[in-house]
Amino acid sequence: MRLLAVTVSVGAALLVMTAPGYAAGGDAIFKKNCASCHYTDGPAKEKTIADQLAKKGPELWYAGSKFKKDWLVAWLQNPKQIRPLKYNSLSDVNKGDHPKQSAGDAAATADFLMGLTSAEVKAGVITAKVTPQAKAIFGKKMPCGGCHEYSEKGEVRGGKSGPSLAGAGKRLNPDWVNAYLANIKVFKPVRDMPDFASALNPKDIEGVAAYIATFE
Ligand code: HEC
Ligand code: HEC
Repeated sequence: MRLLAVTVSVGAALLVMTAPGYAAGGDAIFKKNCASCHYTDGPAKEKTIADQLAKKGPELWYAGSKFKKDWLVAWLQNPKQIRPLKYNSLSDVNKGDHPKQSAGDAAATADFLMGLTSAEVKAGVITAKVTPQAKAIFGKKMPCGGCHEYSEKGEVRGGKSGPSLAGAGKRLNPDWVNAYLANIKVFKPVRDMPDFASALNPKDIEGVAAYIATFE
């Protein structure tokens, strides 16, 4: 009787595992469809430029600190270019051919990714705000707009070598932007973006992070 019960329950478990349409967890979906281009175990692995160039996509080990969940769920179903240029290229255009997910898979994968956080990011420090000082730093004093697109009065302007910051208010957690500008090495030990932590004081960095959070 006991043996029969065990056999039946093992059989039932196998059925559940192989039944078509069974929604796998986000980590399993990620492993199968995404892990060939993105790594999710931190801290940062890149040590040399060759390591960075070998990556097929951005690291996602701090995705839960970086992204806003609503944006992530929507983007995974309908991915639009973030970097105007192809990943790791300074000349080729980004064709916008990122893999698309179904609504169910995107929700499960986003749940998994939002669980990947970095202790470097202090929550609840930055709220979206435009200040003349931050605007001047972004547009004039520091050449942020020379490498990043942003939109002003409904028009997209700025450089193309960095990720676009147009729509950053919906995409990026401002507390992550603050941590990123203050201590870029944690996230990008090998990078194309200058380190601004010595040029800007912590208050200015917070102001710029709050300003980027207003970008539509
Ligand atoms: C063939 C390689 C490849 C595969 C497979 C892939 N990605 Fe990507 N992913 C990229 C590249 C390249 C980018 C940069 C796209 C851009 O900037 O527009 C990217 C960007 C992203 C971003 C935004 C990251 C950032 O820092 O801007 C997320 C989130 C993401 N991918 C999740 C996923 C998920 C989830 C899957 C699996 C369903 C997946 N990717 C599969 C290459 C890939
Ligand atoms: C020389 C070009 C350059 C300048 C100048 C520059 N950036 Fe960047 N920025 C980049 C690149 C390239 C990346 C992508 C990460 C990398 O490879 O370092 C990036 C990434 C970022 C990100 C993360 C975006 C994302 O989706 O991952 C933010 C936020 C950012 N920069 C803000 C700024 C601010 C604020 C300034 C001015 C204080 C600035 N950048 C100046 C090139 C630049």
